[in-house]
Amino acid sequence: MTAIEKERVVEWPLVEADGNAPSVPRAADHGTAVVTDFQGDSFLRPEQLPPSSGWRHRIWRLSRGAITPAPSAAEVHYRRLLQRIQARINSCQRIAVASGKGGVGKTTATILCGTALAMHRLDRILAIDANPDAGSLGWRVERETESTLSDLLRHAARIERYSDVRALTSQAPSRLEVLASELDPAISQALGEADFARAIGVLERYYSVILCDLGTGLLDSATQGILRLANELVIVAAPSVDAGRVASFTLDFVECRYPEKVRNAVVLLNNVRKDGLVDVGALETHFRKRVRSVIRVPYDRHLASGGPARWELLGSATRDAYIEAAAALAEGFSGVVR
Ligand SMILES: Nc1ncnc2c1ncn2[C@@H]1O[C@H](COP(=O)(O)OP(=O)(O)OP(=O)(O)O)[C@@H](O)[C@H]1O
Ligand SMILES: [Mg+2]
Repeated sequence: MTAIEKERVVEWPLVEADGNAPSVPRAADHGTAVVTDFQGDSFLRPEQLPPSSGWRHRIWRLSRGAITPAPSAAEVHYRRLLQRIQARINSCQRIAVASGKGGVGKTTATILCGTALAMHRLDRILAIDANPDAGSLGWRVERETESTLSDLLRHAARIERYSDVRALTSQAPSRLEVLASELDPAISQALGEADFARAIGVLERYYSVILCDLGTGLLDSATQGILRLANELVIVAAPSVDAGRVASFTLDFVECRYPEKVRNAVVLLNNVRKDGLVDVGALETHFRKRVRSVIRVPYDRHLASGGPARWELLGSATRDAYIEAAAALAEGFSGVVR
């Protein structure tokens, strides 16, 4: 490099002395041209994405792209949700899916929130079974391996690369990976706070989002550990008075220790039926006062079977609800809550 070239090199520190990101150097500051002077976007005419379905899509296709009708309000909404799901992640996001009540849909919500994230993001998403009572997470996807969380802990010291962890997980067609727990509660019960902290310490090196499916025992050591480590919380409630009460109690329980986690939580009102006697709107209003987002998930015939939860077999309203849920979760990824 000649002396003149050296003089022209603009030093651009990664972090300023005050800890902030540096401002982009401008030509005027240095008396020389820098690439940032070229604002590429200002040379482009605005272009509209073609509508993806309905008569709008047909017009676009029949006119071979000469006519691009404006997208419907529903499509604009959907595109915005996908944009939110693709939010930038700066550090591993740990999401706890909890409820003090059994059978309300925690495991299903863990799988389907994870699926919605995995389908629309390019980074790695993992769901782990943190239910000390031999949870069922591993059975809600097609299993590729019998390995469990205990195997991860056993081999933790030797895990050096992603393929070492991948050997222990099962991957669904959505790209969501699942790490199951032991079927024998005598083994899964023995895993406590320290074990989960160790497991997550290993896993967060390879995954951007880790969803943890909890058991109903809020005082379990594993649950306590996950609640402490979680940066986001999903509370699942069924639309019934008793399940609503337990969900509310779960929020009270977490709020005593982590009030900010409750303010930032997402509540899923799961299994909502049109013919139910409960005023779901009133339940929603109750939870909206306490948490960031409340989403209704309808009763779904495919889910009611209790087999592996397959996205393409869900009703469209259930898919929409889980896209909404994933977008709500992703809104918390930056730590900035709107
Ligand atoms: N929206 C829904 N519509 C119909 N069935 C559902 C829905 N969500 C979940 N289910 C079904 O309800 C049952 C209980 O769900 P799930 O196992 O997810 O609950 P859980 O809270 O994890 O239970 P546990 O406390 O035993 O861990 C399952 O058979 C599941 O497939
Ligand atoms: Mg469960």
